[in-house]
Amino acid sequence: MTSQAAAEGGSHARLPGTEGAEKGQAGPTGRPLPAFPVPAPLQQHGPARIIAMCNQKGGVGKTTSTINLGAALAEYGRKVLLIDFDPQGALSVGLGIRAHELDTTIYNLLVEPSRDIHEVIQQTATPGLDIVPANIDLSAAEVQLVGEVAREMVLARVLRPVLDEYDVVLIDCQPSLGLLTVNALTAAHGVLIPLECEFFAMRGVALLVETIEKVTDRLNPRLQVDGILATMYDGRTLHSRDVVKSVVDHFGEKVFHTVITRTVKFPDATLAAEPITSYASTHGAAEAYRQLARELIARGEAA
Ligand SMILES: Nc1ncnc2c1ncn2[C@@H]1O[C@H](COP(=O)(O)OP(=O)(O)OP(=O)(O)O)[C@@H](O)[C@H]1O
Ligand SMILES: [Mg+2]
Repeated sequence: MTSQAAAEGGSHARLPGTEGAEKGQAGPTGRPLPAFPVPAPLQQHGPARIIAMCNQKGGVGKTTSTINLGAALAEYGRKVLLIDFDPQGALSVGLGIRAHELDTTIYNLLVEPSRDIHEVIQQTATPGLDIVPANIDLSAAEVQLVGEVAREMVLARVLRPVLDEYDVVLIDCQPSLGLLTVNALTAAHGVLIPLECEFFAMRGVALLVETIEKVTDRLNPRLQVDGILATMYDGRTLHSRDVVKSVVDHFGEKVFHTVITRTVKFPDATLAAEPITSYASTHGAAEAYRQLARELIARGEAA
């Protein structure tokens, strides 16, 4: 196998983050890697824990992580609802939904209080993984909601009727800290922050943390930062390792032990409109999102 293939996590390649599991050595984040056991099947479903996938920086892996963490949790028998909360609709398209053709989306749920979320939920090809799609209509919501009473709590109200039917709800936020993202943070129990392993990864994180603190203070006291997820990691470069080290120095145990390697399998899976867990089921990158799902459950941040 070439070093490229090894780094891409070909079927025999070691997954970054699993090396230490056998030897008790440091994982890719520099800390000893705990074992994350396969979770026991659930006997019943709900109430859901709501997690906002959030970073106002663009292109850091929010949508990719929402799709693949969701699919991995569903593989473990969890009932998962994904909320596309970005007018770009990348989450919907990434799961094979022709979002631009839809008449009813998350937008209608936000601005028409009489709508029932059940009308808008779609099943995906992955069993146990459902989605509320979005398209460009959502871009009008921000302006329309500004004049509403309790305008930050609209998404929380929209989600309430289905919380008993799901174990986890993942909200794919748009790259902004505007009213839609504040709605996601107000509805959520936790925030998962994907951070791309590149030099300016931490730029803007202080503002994100400040926004989370404001929402916790004023709107949603239960909100917590569930974890920081290092994405697009390349273990061959000192640079990626340095970035992860500085993120761990800053955020300590909030950083997930699981890191997501940079691989072309992700854009490939997006083109195929499938989660990586089915598109390239045995690839290291699919296993990484399964490990993230197990880590989240082991940390008590998902059922
Ligand atoms: N681990 C990875 N390795 C390689 N490419 C990746 C990885 N994760 C995501 N990508 C690719 O990077 C691009 C951006 O990823 P993604 O859409 O998940 O980011 P995002 O944070 O949701 O972006 P936006 O802020 O625009 O919503 C996509 O083309 C995706 O396929
Ligand atoms: Mg996105």
